[in-house]
Amino acid sequence: MIRKFTHRDMRRILEIESNSFPKSTYDRFAFFYLSRLYHFLVYKDEKILAYIIFDERNGHIASIAVDPLHRRKGIGRKLVEEVLKNCGRAWVEVRVSNKIAQAFYEALGFIDIGVVPNYYGDEDAHVMVRSR
Ligand SMILES: CC(C)(COP(=O)(O)OP(=O)(O)OC[C@H]1O[C@@H](n2cnc3c(N)ncnc32)[C@H](O)[C@@H]1OP(=O)(O)O)[C@@H](O)C(=O)NCCC(=O)NCCS
Repeated sequence: MIRKFTHRDMRRILEIESNSFPKSTYDRFAFFYLSRLYHFLVYKDEKILAYIIFDERNGHIASIAVDPLHRRKGIGRKLVEEVLKNCGRAWVEVRVSNKIAQAFYEALGFIDIGVVPNYYGDEDAHVMVRSR
């Protein structure tokens, strides 16, 4: 089931986060801040398996991560479909080194519209977009 994030989900979100982004991990304060600013959804089975954070005004995906033990089961796709359902479009920056995320967004019909140099400070980003 996909539902809104609540603060009780924080411990699992932090686990998924540290397993997904070991080099640039958001902490609880970052998630608290993001939960105030953006639409924050979690995918829950017996426990929380994934999350997505996006800006409802324009479809910008701020972050998405799936528990490594539950990848390639279509969970990421379902979460991005929520963005498309809510916003009619979606767009995201992806580290040039993150080939898996690029393959994921390509599989979902996103198009690479260019590179932002030094977007991450230490790395460039592809900008990938998709309309419904
Ligand atoms: C990117 C991520 C969210 C994908 O989530 P997921 O639930 O595994 O993705 P799905 O199962 O919905 O995959 C949908 C399609 O994307 C493509 N895809 C997903 N993972 C892939 C991989 N490792 N290699 C190649 N293609 C992949 C496939 O076409 C897949 O369809 P298929 O499994 O039927 O072949 C997940 O790998 C993740 O959390 N990565 C770490 C965090 C991250 O990089 N987030 C993105 C930051 S921009």
